[in-house]
Amino acid sequence: MNICVLGGTGFVGTELVTRLALDGHWVRVPTRNPERAVRLRVLDTVELRTADVHAPPTLGQLFAGCDAVINLVGILNPRRGASFHAVHTELPAKVLAAARAAGVRQVLHMSALGADPHGPSHYLRSKGAGEALLKAAPPPATQAQPAITIFRPSVIFGAADSLTNRFAKLLRLTAGLLPLARARARFAPIHVSDVAQAFRQALLSRASFGETYQLCGPDVMTLAELVRMTARVARLPCHIVPLPDLLARLQGLVMGLLPGKPFSLDNFRSLTIDCVCREDGCARLGIRPAHMLAVLPTYLGSDDFETQLALLRRTADR
Ligand SMILES: NC(=O)c1ccc[n+]([C@@H]2O[C@H](COP(=O)([O-])OP(=O)(O)OC[C@H]3O[C@@H](n4cnc5c(N)ncnc54)[C@H](OP(=O)(O)O)[C@@H]3O)[C@@H](O)[C@H]2O)c1
Repeated sequence: MNICVLGGTGFVGTELVTRLALDGHWVRVPTRNPERAVRLRVLDTVELRTADVHAPPTLGQLFAGCDAVINLVGILNPRRGASFHAVHTELPAKVLAAARAAGVRQVLHMSALGADPHGPSHYLRSKGAGEALLKAAPPPATQAQPAITIFRPSVIFGAADSLTNRFAKLLRLTAGLLPLARARARFAPIHVSDVAQAFRQALLSRASFGETYQLCGPDVMTLAELVRMTARVARLPCHIVPLPDLLARLQGLVMGLLPGKPFSLDNFRSLTIDCVCREDGCARLGIRPAHMLAVLPTYLGSDDFETQLALLRRTADR
């Protein structure tokens, strides 16, 4: 197949594009900076193109000859002139219009668990509005109308994530002392390869047309538990100080002013709802997602074989 993957250079995108290329597909990946896509440059069937995906004529050129389009573009905070609305709501509309005009058969869209036009944060509201817009599109009656498939993952972990790696880095910097906002917010972290597998299973499979899949890992845990697990595997000290909401908001306000916005008021608001699945999209796609403890030691753990073995045994006992 010929597939165009928007956001294909990111954390999820690199995993997915690599697998699609190894599956034998031709994959076109637009990016603002091809120099950064080091892992994708070595793949023969991946075409990296410098492009502005927000320009409709460019999307038309990118989608020419494509069977499917995957949209992974997303931001955690607005930056460099890109607003939540432009990235999460307007872009999906442009993608759908261009896919329709180019005769693409399926658009696979990455949303997020908790996406809701009336959600507590700009992030969740803009993701929800993007989804609503795609769902409002008429069903595929003709060849020219692409089928739509939507994915709503919980937080995603993996060797290149900015979740467990960021917490490990923070714990190292602070000798384990971590003031934590919304420490009791619940998640079901899913491994990036399981997310990539969900897209691969759904690709041009009729059963997935018009469907929305919630994607969760098997372990439901609080944010504090996630940080403690990260610390245990990385063998780091860990003393969590759960922040009351008032202080957590302040933390969001202050850190939102720092370069790169490591945490923002909008991130705080996203954490006010649990990020766990209400249906098992993985099961519907025939996927058995990995336990966190089975994967974390492969990239965060010490090289000590005995430690890794003990962690894996503990996973097997659960
Ligand atoms: N990671 C998670 O835990 C998680 C959880 C739930 C949902 N999601 C969703 O999954 C998707 C992928 O997440 P990720 O973690 O892989 O993100 P990521 O690593 O930050 O990658 C984002 C990608 O989007 C592109 N991009 C970012 N801002 C853009 C802009 N203003 N205009 C055009 N392209 C832009 C980047 O492309 P270039 O820089 O190459 O141009 C990059 O390829 C996102 O939609 C995210 O909301 C992620």
